[in-house]
Amino acid sequence: MGAGRTGTVIPIVPQGRTGDGGLAFQAALPLALYVHVPWCVQKCPYCDFNSHAMREEGIPEDDYVAALIADLETALPLVWGRRVGSVFFGGGTPSLLSGAALETLLQAIRARLPLLPDAEITLEANPGTAEADRFAAFRAAGVNRLSLGIQSFDPVHLRSLGRIHDDAEARRAIALAAAHFDNFNLDLMYGLPGQTLPGALVDLETALSFAPPHLSCYQLTLEPNTAFAAAPPLLPEADLCADMQEAIEARLAHAGYTHYETSAFARPGRQCRHNRNYWEFGDYLGIGAGAHGKLTVFDGSRWEVRRQMRWKQPRQYLAQVAAGRPVQEEHGVAAADLPFEFMMNALRLNQGFDAALYEARTALPLIGIESRLRRVALRVGRPPDASVRALVALFGAGATYLVLRARTYSHYVGFDLREAASWAEFMQTISAAMPPPPQASMRSRSRVPR
Ligand SMILES: C[S@@+](CC[C@H](N)C(=O)[O-])C[C@H]1O[C@@H](n2cnc3c(N)ncnc32)[C@H](O)[C@@H]1O
Ligand code: SF4
Repeated sequence: MGAGRTGTVIPIVPQGRTGDGGLAFQAALPLALYVHVPWCVQKCPYCDFNSHAMREEGIPEDDYVAALIADLETALPLVWGRRVGSVFFGGGTPSLLSGAALETLLQAIRARLPLLPDAEITLEANPGTAEADRFAAFRAAGVNRLSLGIQSFDPVHLRSLGRIHDDAEARRAIALAAAHFDNFNLDLMYGLPGQTLPGALVDLETALSFAPPHLSCYQLTLEPNTAFAAAPPLLPEADLCADMQEAIEARLAHAGYTHYETSAFARPGRQCRHNRNYWEFGDYLGIGAGAHGKLTVFDGSRWEVRRQMRWKQPRQYLAQVAAGRPVQEEHGVAAADLPFEFMMNALRLNQGFDAALYEARTALPLIGIESRLRRVALRVGRPPDASVRALVALFGAGATYLVLRARTYSHYVGFDLREAASWAEFMQTISAAMPPPPQASMRSRSRVPR
């Protein structure tokens, strides 16, 4: 083990403060709107999203749409005058909403929040809810991007995942999506119970045959408090899953897709603007049951980065909105936590980030943490071979451009990091996940292709 791996962690002293110790943001951050729809036809055994099996009589659509609009109204003072670059209807299964409900919602949103003329408006859809009229109505209401949860085309895997659709419905849904939307995404999962490498590639080939503008490929993970966590299925070995990921990446690169984030691949010009905004630590307002938001606000004297969470249970949310209190939890992010929070998001981007983005999003100078990052880079080094699927910390030319690049190992590191409560733990997690540093100087090999 390299001596550097046990180095102590120096606390960050944030710079870029105003005279009174507050943060000084130079410009408003980009703003996105997330709208959560918390119901599904049934709950999938692997899923830990805030989603609930709907009742036989369906979802309380009118009440929920009214609540979302009321929720938005209460949030407006936090985002006055700011323009919205993207709207994302996520879930749950937002495609359970009717076209009329989507139209009412989008009209209400446009009337209250100025959307950029080319705003990206995405809706998540389950293939089991795909109908031509419904998709046409979503498009007419203003949705311009559809995201379909395909997961697999193999009927055996679809059954083991508890999906409500079969392979034929998956294909039909994609054909419908392509007929109504020139911009759409397909979600695939790999590392499924009993899946082989050729099997994962057959799924990918089938997806590619529809020429999707965007693909999200997720390794199946066992999440706490799910049916799979309680009775875990037998999953492929970690090495086989890593081979699947590498094979998927290679095939998609060959097919002309850019791998721009841990799980996201896009054709030129088709990266998801909404998700990029999260990863670039932009602002977002989240409305709906359990929705999270992050807003950089100026209260007349001080800037603050504020996080919000709405009431999670749909019934509770409806009741609390009616009482004028959609937000269950709200807190300011301490300036000392901003570097960590920024990294947690930006490190997902394969391209890394530059100093200007860091400084614009945190109002802190990168130089404030540069020496610490340099030490991590020195400590970590480059993985000695491809079998060490690790996160690589490198400084680019002039030591102002940082790339901490998450590759195959990123799921592992990502999970640990989500557990990490502080910058110190973040550093320790990276260090612990890394192989010993090579002997040669880091600097001589630290040029990062841009
Ligand atoms: C909110 S769901 C998508 C829309 C819709 N609810 C559906 O499932 O068709 C988002 C995506 O996250 C992925 N996902 C959910 N749980 C996962 C898990 N435990 N491991 C890996 N991917 C997961 C799935 O690919 C899923 O399509
Ligand atoms: S349909 Fe999507 S959101 Fe609903 S339970 Fe399944 S994976 Fe989760």
